[in-house]
Amino acid sequence: MKDFKGKVAFITGGGSGAGLGQAKLFSQAGCKVVIADIRQDHLDEAMAYFKEKKAPVHAIKMDLTDRKAYAAAADEVEKVFGSPPQLLFNTAGVNTFGPAEASTFEDYDWVLGVNLGGVINGLVTFVPRMIKAGKGGHIATVASWGGFMGFAGDAPYSCSKAAVINLMESYYLALKPYGIGVSVLCPGNIRSNIGEAVYTRPKRLANTGYHVNEGTINSIRSIHAQGMDPVELAGWLKRGIENEQLYVLPFPNSEQMLRENFERVIDFSTPEGTRRQDELARKRQAEMGERRESGFGKAKADLTWVRESARAKEQ
Ligand code: NAI
Repeated sequence: MKDFKGKVAFITGGGSGAGLGQAKLFSQAGCKVVIADIRQDHLDEAMAYFKEKKAPVHAIKMDLTDRKAYAAAADEVEKVFGSPPQLLFNTAGVNTFGPAEASTFEDYDWVLGVNLGGVINGLVTFVPRMIKAGKGGHIATVASWGGFMGFAGDAPYSCSKAAVINLMESYYLALKPYGIGVSVLCPGNIRSNIGEAVYTRPKRLANTGYHVNEGTINSIRSIHAQGMDPVELAGWLKRGIENEQLYVLPFPNSEQMLRENFERVIDFSTPEGTRRQDELARKRQAEMGERRESGFGKAKADLTWVRESARAKEQ
């Protein structure tokens, strides 16, 4: 897709970070934009920006893990803008950090429910509507560079992102005959509010094995404060959509990064390569360890079966 004028774009997580960056850039490119988000304050802030610009942007408060709410949102888009979206951005996502061995069912259910389940809900809700409308279009999902590898301190998130990378390749192949393009954006660090994701964690999934408090949230905030500007990131995505690329990696040296990543996979399939990778992982863990005075990325203190260095000291 090269011409974005008059296209309807549905953006999950459109109230903040990467999703808001997309809303700003694609609205500027002439799209009618729907921002869908679970946080009313994020939607209000975003809408104040768009109202000032007099841009055709519509906000929907919804939890994308709620399939009925998703269907109602799809109906609302058609009522407000007259057609299903031609652009679907599955951008909303959440994260929480802690040792894989401390993870609870609820850690997995929450993170995978939003990051994978939310994307599935978007696809199952909108793909038939997009095909029936017969106007073609493009679907983009925000995964992560982290989806290309496992990470001992972020297992639910890493596997959710690996899953959506794989999922988008399936849809890329499946939707070609309908004139619907598919991309998966795999960013590194983004300047966003994802450090606060735990504020949206549902009560029924509150049971976590990780050490989470305002101190750990602030540690994550300070990391993301250094991230890529969301509008700049949306620019990478727009170029990827224009070029009909499946993978959009917003790094100048992405080809080299991918080669090194797949060398890692090859390494893990031989004994000498495995030793090399173990050594690299040990060094990385030591570096990470130095950043964790707040207890960020650690298990809860009372999980005494988790090794001491991976456990928080206070609760
Ligand atoms: P963000 O927190 O600033 O924006 C995400 C938005 O999604 C928030 O407004 C939040 O309220 C919304 N959201 C969360 N759960 C929701 C739900 N159940 N239903 C509806 N909306 C929900 O975070 P950010 O960083 O902009 O995240 C966007 C995407 O980028 C996510 O998929 C994330 O995993 C991905 N990503 C982020 C990176 C980073 O460094 N921040 C790096 C790589 C990927």
